[in-house]
Amino acid sequence: MTILDGKKIAAEIRAELKAQIADLLANHQRAPKLGIVIVGHNPASETYVNNKMKACLEVGIEAIRIAFEDSITEKELLAEVDKLNHDDSIDGFIVQLPLPKHIDEQTITSAIDYRKDVDGLTPENVGRATKGLPCIISATPRGIRELLSRYAIPTDGKHIVVIGRSNIVGKPMASLLMQKHERGNATVTLCHSHTAHLKEICLSADIIIVAVGHPGLLTADMVSPGATVIDVGITRVDDSQSERGYRIKGDVDFDNVAPKCDFITPVPGGVGPMTIVSLLQNALQAYNSKR
Ligand code: GUN
Repeated sequence: MTILDGKKIAAEIRAELKAQIADLLANHQRAPKLGIVIVGHNPASETYVNNKMKACLEVGIEAIRIAFEDSITEKELLAEVDKLNHDDSIDGFIVQLPLPKHIDEQTITSAIDYRKDVDGLTPENVGRATKGLPCIISATPRGIRELLSRYAIPTDGKHIVVIGRSNIVGKPMASLLMQKHERGNATVTLCHSHTAHLKEICLSADIIIVAVGHPGLLTADMVSPGATVIDVGITRVDDSQSERGYRIKGDVDFDNVAPKCDFITPVPGGVGPMTIVSLLQNALQAYNSKR
């Protein structure tokens, strides 16, 4: 069994990005610039945004945090998105999710100029991804595909089961892996909370990707020997032993599933670091496509 070391691969990609950005600066180009919009004070979102800012700085991407109180209205936030769409100094931006209940996520994410949509959430980018056209791919699916590729785990002709139908992971992941492409060409089954016979479907999978936010959902009896398991779950659970008062749990019962697998991602240190580095790749892509 091999542990897919997302932390190590992400560090390798950050080094590659750093070199590419240093080259730009050496050629008298400006650095790419990413905007990160955050609304309210969700502690998990604050942590993710801080990590994204840190990662940008490390590779030489300029990052600005644009913070609003929970009291901002949908209309006001739409106006801020419009400002960012028209700000030529910003190559790409994200609106950190979730948003407060009174703001519709679809309305906000759909208002982003697709050329600056480094989360790949606009209808334009989702449609282009589905059709196999050039586009910005959502960061987590991009990172998972990269992780599989760097460990030379083939997808061509394989049965890949994706559990979870979110717009940010499950749906774009399934779409990416079914594309007519050497890093796609998979037979994909997308499972969700209404799927019947989940265990039987998982048992026929070569690769299982779980993205539901339900700690320990994937148990050993659902996994065939030799499978690859990718765990996207990052749920905070209370832990009085931990200094922070919580620990992060994945969607996979790792201790019992891992011995059956050929490859498995840990949580933390698997998909999480790959998501962040993929956002940086998307930011550089948005910058390059403007030139
Ligand atoms: N919330 C959790 N993950 C993400 C992400 O990848 N992008 C955004 N915008 N919000 C998130």
